[in-house]
Amino acid sequence: MAKGILDMKFSLSNEAPEQLATPCIVVGIVEDAPLEGAAKIIDQASGGLIAEGVENGDLDASRGCTTLLHGLAGVTAKRILVVGFGPSEKNDPSRFEKTCMDSGKFLRDHAVTEAHFCIADIEVENLDTAWRLRQAALAIHRANYLYTATKKTNEHSPNPLKAASFAGTPDLQSALDQAGGLAVGFERARELGNLPPNICTPAYLAEQAQEIAASYENVEVEVLEQAEMSELGMNALLAVGQGSKNTPRLIVLKYCGAPAEQSPVVFVGKGITFDTGGISLKPPENMDQMKFDMGGAASVMGAFEACACLQLPVNLVCVVAAAENMPGSNAYRPGDVITSMSGQTIEVLNTDAEGRMVLCDALTYSKRFEPKALIDVATLTGACVVALGHHASALMSKHDDLAEELIQAGQQTVDRAWRMPLWEDYQSQLKTPFADMKNVGGMPAGSITAACFLSRFTKGQRWAHLDIAGSAWKWGQTEGATGRPTGLLTQFLINQGQQHSDLTSV
Ligand code: BES
Ligand code: MN
Ligand code: ZN
Repeated sequence: MAKGILDMKFSLSNEAPEQLATPCIVVGIVEDAPLEGAAKIIDQASGGLIAEGVENGDLDASRGCTTLLHGLAGVTAKRILVVGFGPSEKNDPSRFEKTCMDSGKFLRDHAVTEAHFCIADIEVENLDTAWRLRQAALAIHRANYLYTATKKTNEHSPNPLKAASFAGTPDLQSALDQAGGLAVGFERARELGNLPPNICTPAYLAEQAQEIAASYENVEVEVLEQAEMSELGMNALLAVGQGSKNTPRLIVLKYCGAPAEQSPVVFVGKGITFDTGGISLKPPENMDQMKFDMGGAASVMGAFEACACLQLPVNLVCVVAAAENMPGSNAYRPGDVITSMSGQTIEVLNTDAEGRMVLCDALTYSKRFEPKALIDVATLTGACVVALGHHASALMSKHDDLAEELIQAGQQTVDRAWRMPLWEDYQSQLKTPFADMKNVGGMPAGSITAACFLSRFTKGQRWAHLDIAGSAWKWGQTEGATGRPTGLLTQFLINQGQQHSDLTSV
C-alpha cells in the first residue's frame, strides 16, 4: 500500500479476539438479535458482560452508537469499542458504511492509534465478507482523514489511527489491498479538493500529476501549456484560462497495466481551480466553495493513483483540463464566438458555463487515445444539485451498457450515480443564429443541456458524463471535499480488469 498522508497500515489477523494484545478491539452489535461473531466471543470470554450491557441498556445497538468498555475481565485487549449497527433487518451498504465511518471517527477523536476491527461479520444484504472488509477498512481510513495543510492546530485528534488490523482469513488479503488503493486515491482527491485556490492552481495540479508519475511504476505524464494548446487549436479551453494570471494546463497521465495494444479507458476531469464565473460574475455568497470546482480533476487523479497503486491490469489515460475562471482584463466575454479544437464554433452567452468549454477541447483531444470508454467527470451544473442533492452523482450516456457498468461500480463502492436522459429532444436548446451552438441551454434541464453540449464533442465515442456538482464536497465550512467519485471510477477499472482476465482465462 502506498504511503499517503495518513500512512495508515492495514493488516489481517485471524487470532482469537479475546486473546489479542491490542489497545482496542471494535465489535458490532445489531438491534433485536442475539449477539453474533466477535461480539458473542468477547461476551463469552468476559462472562456475559456484553449481553448484560445490551439487556440493561448500557450498550445501545442503535445505528452509530458507540460505547467504550475498559479492562474487561477475560479479554486481553485494553478496550472494547461496541458499535451499534441499527436494526438487524435490511442492513444496507450505505448504512454499513456510515456506521464504519462513525466508529473510525470515534477512534480518531479519542486518539486511538491502533485498533483491531471485527466488524466485517455484520451482515449486509447480498454482500460477502470480502466486500464488508474492504468497505470497512476504506471507511475507517476516510474517517481518519484530517485536513492539516493550512491548519496546524485542529480540534480533532492530531493522532489519527496508524494501524488498523482486521479480523479475517488470509484469502481476504486482496480485498484489504483494494481498500488500501482506494484509500490512497480518495485521500489524494480530498486533499486536492480542500487545498485553497491560491495554492491549488493549474500549475499545482500539474506538479501533483508529476509527483504521482514519479511515485508509481508504469506511469507517464505530459503537461501541455498555452503555446502547445494553442498549436492544437484548443481555443475553448484557452478562452476560459485567459482571464487569469494562473495560466491553464492540459495534464495527461498515462498508466499501462495491460498489453500496449489494448485500448485504454480515458477519464477526463474538469479542473477549474477557482470559478468566479468570469465576466458573468457569481454572487459573493458561497463563492469560496468554487475552490472545489476542480473536483472532477481531483477524482480522476485519485482514481488514477488508486489504479497505479494497485497495478490494475488495464490501460488508463487521465486528461485534466486545468484553468482558473477569472474576470481579468483579457477575460473572454459573453458574445464571444470561439472556434473549438473540433472546429465547431461556440457562442459564449455566459462565461460561468466554463466547465463545458474546457471539457469540450479535452474530450476532442482524448480521441487520439482511441478509448474503449471515455468518461468525463465534472462539477458542471448547479442544476444537478437541485435535481439530485448531495447523495448521487448524475450520469448521462447514450450507451446503456456503459451506463450500467458505471452505475454498478457506484453501487459496489457506495459512491452512487443516478442516470438522467440524454435525448436528442434537448439539443435544440443550444441553437443560436451566431455559431454552431451556444454555451448555455436556458433554465429547463440545465444538467442535461450541459451534457448535450459535451455530446457534440464525443460523436462516435463510447462516452459517459458524470456531473458531480452535488457529490464532490459537503456544503458549508466544515466537511470539505468527499473525494467522490474516486470509488466509482476505481471500481469501474477493477471491474474492467476482471472482465479482461475472465476472458483470457477461458
Ligand atoms: N462550477 C459551476 C457549477 C456548480 C455550481 C457546481 C454550484 C456546484 C455548485 C459551473 O461552472 C457553473 O457555474 N454552471 C452554471 C451554468 C449556467 C451558467 C448555465 C450554473 O450551474 O449556474
Ligand atoms: Mn461556472
Ligand atoms: Zn465551474
